[in-house]
Amino acid sequence: MMVRTLERLQHVYASEGIRGVGRRLARRFHATTVTSGTAEPESKLALDAGDYWTESSDDEFIRDQSHWLGHGRYSDERVWRSIGQSHRRLVETACQLAERKEPIRHMLEWGPGGGANAVAFTDQLETFTGVDISQPNLQQCGRQLIAEGFGGFHPIVIEPDAPEHVLEACRQPIDLFLCTAVYQHFPGKQYGERVTRLAAQLLDTNGVALIQTRYDDGTRKYSAKTNNYRAHASYFTSYAIDEFWAIASDAGLEPLAVRLNTKVKYAYYLLKNRAGTN
Ligand SMILES: C[S@@+](CC[C@H](N)C(=O)[O-])C[C@H]1O[C@@H](n2cnc3c(N)ncnc32)[C@H](O)[C@@H]1O
Repeated sequence: MMVRTLERLQHVYASEGIRGVGRRLARRFHATTVTSGTAEPESKLALDAGDYWTESSDDEFIRDQSHWLGHGRYSDERVWRSIGQSHRRLVETACQLAERKEPIRHMLEWGPGGGANAVAFTDQLETFTGVDISQPNLQQCGRQLIAEGFGGFHPIVIEPDAPEHVLEACRQPIDLFLCTAVYQHFPGKQYGERVTRLAAQLLDTNGVALIQTRYDDGTRKYSAKTNNYRAHASYFTSYAIDEFWAIASDAGLEPLAVRLNTKVKYAYYLLKNRAGTN
């Protein structure tokens, strides 16, 4: 009953042209009340994810969630730039551990959002491929790269339930696969396994990867969810640390190290393509 009332309220707001307010109210309501239910197919959840992230076209909350400069938490440019700077340091560590001497020339980021990672790497890149389910986020990433004077951007919008199409769209083997603050938004654990296999397929022989997932600490908040994408978008998918380590390894990526941020339950996996292992 309450759910229907909120949905109607959302509809009323939408018809009045202030969709963001309605969506936000519904989101808060769902997030605090809907905690269990029947599992939904991953393919359906993937389409829900596509709808959700495409709302960055006009929704301030989703722009903040997608790390757009000048929006929400990223009003301060230093905070926004620090995202890519810290990830670049981790990538440099991965290169050292992998004994990779060559610079990164071709990078692919899965889920680049507002481009906070992209701008931290452009000084060494020839191409930056951004793969996302949200066209508005890819456009925003492109705007930031143009602002940096970078001309090697290749955006790839994928159908949310068909990530494998990236294999046809990606132009060349990549030196670096980067994916941060995205696996937790995947519509299920198996989806994350599929993307991890794609990472291994896309990487050049001596390529490296930095993948961050949320880890499951045994609490309800950080456990993997199976329904109602919109309510759980921020905490949808997580893995036990040894579980993802094995997933990466089975996919053909050799784990070199894992770093934790225990505050937000982030696990950063530093990886290299096993095909390059002597
Ligand atoms: C929190 S933002 C992260 C942005 C960036 N990676 C960073 O660390 O600043 C999440 C991004 O992942 C994208 N995304 C969500 N699900 C995705 C999926 N299944 N495949 C590709 N991108 C996805 C969203 O559209 C959004 O651009």
